[in-house]
Amino acid sequence: MNSILIKKGRVIDPSQGLDDILDVYISNDIIKQIAQNINRKASLIIEADHLIVAPGLIDMHTHLREPGREDEETIYSGTRAAAAGGFTSICCMPNTRPICDSRTNIKYIHSRNLELGVVNIYPIASITVGQVGEEIVEFGDLVDAGAIAFSDDGLPVMNAEIMRRALEYTSMFDVPILDHCEDRNLASEGVMHSGYIQSLLGLPGIPGAAESTQVARDVELVEFFGGRLHICHISIGASVHLIRRAKKRGVNITCEVTPHHLTLIDALVKETNFDTNTKVKPPLVSEENRQELLRGLQDGTIDVIATDHAPHTAKDKDKEYVDAPFGLIGMETAVPVILTDIVHTGVISVNQMIEKMATNPARILRLDKGTLKIGTTADVTLLDPDKRHTIKSTAFYSLSRNTPFEGKKCKGAVDTTIVGGNVIYSKGKIVSDEER
Ligand code: DOR
Repeated sequence: MNSILIKKGRVIDPSQGLDDILDVYISNDIIKQIAQNINRKASLIIEADHLIVAPGLIDMHTHLREPGREDEETIYSGTRAAAAGGFTSICCMPNTRPICDSRTNIKYIHSRNLELGVVNIYPIASITVGQVGEEIVEFGDLVDAGAIAFSDDGLPVMNAEIMRRALEYTSMFDVPILDHCEDRNLASEGVMHSGYIQSLLGLPGIPGAAESTQVARDVELVEFFGGRLHICHISIGASVHLIRRAKKRGVNITCEVTPHHLTLIDALVKETNFDTNTKVKPPLVSEENRQELLRGLQDGTIDVIATDHAPHTAKDKDKEYVDAPFGLIGMETAVPVILTDIVHTGVISVNQMIEKMATNPARILRLDKGTLKIGTTADVTLLDPDKRHTIKSTAFYSLSRNTPFEGKKCKGAVDTTIVGGNVIYSKGKIVSDEER
């Protein structure tokens, strides 16, 4: 029998208001007991007196490039990157080749993960067929196949009538629409946030209104027509204000922010001399906007921290700034970056961090995850909040290296990742199949 006893960790589980020094006993794949001084035999004992014991983290916004761009990421590499980042469950966006808009695509992801993966994958299907924004997919059929949510991330739905229908139909199945809010006409050929730095650099700009006009549209749509709306990676203050006001009126809306938008700003494009690893959608914004994101994170307007892990090869990124693809990776840097710059600086507590990286994603996606309740599957993340280290992309399990956090000195790391009662990652290494 496979059993794990985690001794004397600081157990934090916002789903049951738990924050105490306790032992956790896992037997087979189930959380069996949480108490002081558990006296049981176990095949593995983890001394956790310097660690935080949290429900397995959930990244509700990631890009695995399989099928189609296996040179950027695969289900094999992406799930290992997730485990190294402390994520026991991830939700993958549909902008693969082919686009994930059919039962076959969902089944493919599930079967590949069963064969090769090391964390739980919950596929997100597209809202429109082929993500071209014209014809809605068979929502019921895709939910039945295992789609957890719907999104046209990367190529957002511009037609409000189509978005209305998507909200109405998906509400029948109680699944959310995850919208990448970007007015593609306003964003046009822009490559960085419109503002002082952008005008200094002479690059084409993306106005903040490209995001906020779509957030405003979506708020109106969900208020008029119903449905469940989750806004992806908000980046500007105006979006925070719109969502805060909508929530006060009781609109059924949630939102997420990425670690990079919380910690980096557009000035980095200049400072790094046009490093294309700073090129992302939505773009890095001004310090004033970043401060509004921090306020939104603190007061609960922003429910979730998600990575928007977007792998690209060095060859593709090694281009002029205007020509390089948008996107940066984030699963292996999220925990250290958030602990260092957001938790240790006092913006939010570690309890709020866990709420936004486990409890809330589970609630929004209606997953029986993000909790350490007795009887649930043992997905557990152990964090070492004081561990000092430097981010080195050569150590990543991801196939891609496009991070703007290279060389960042951090305080805080993932110590161990347990998925379904199995230790998948421990102290810097993925545990091999033979050792497990
Ligand atoms: O920067 C981005 N890259 N934003 C997106 O929405 C899509 C992503 C990608 O797939 O590369």
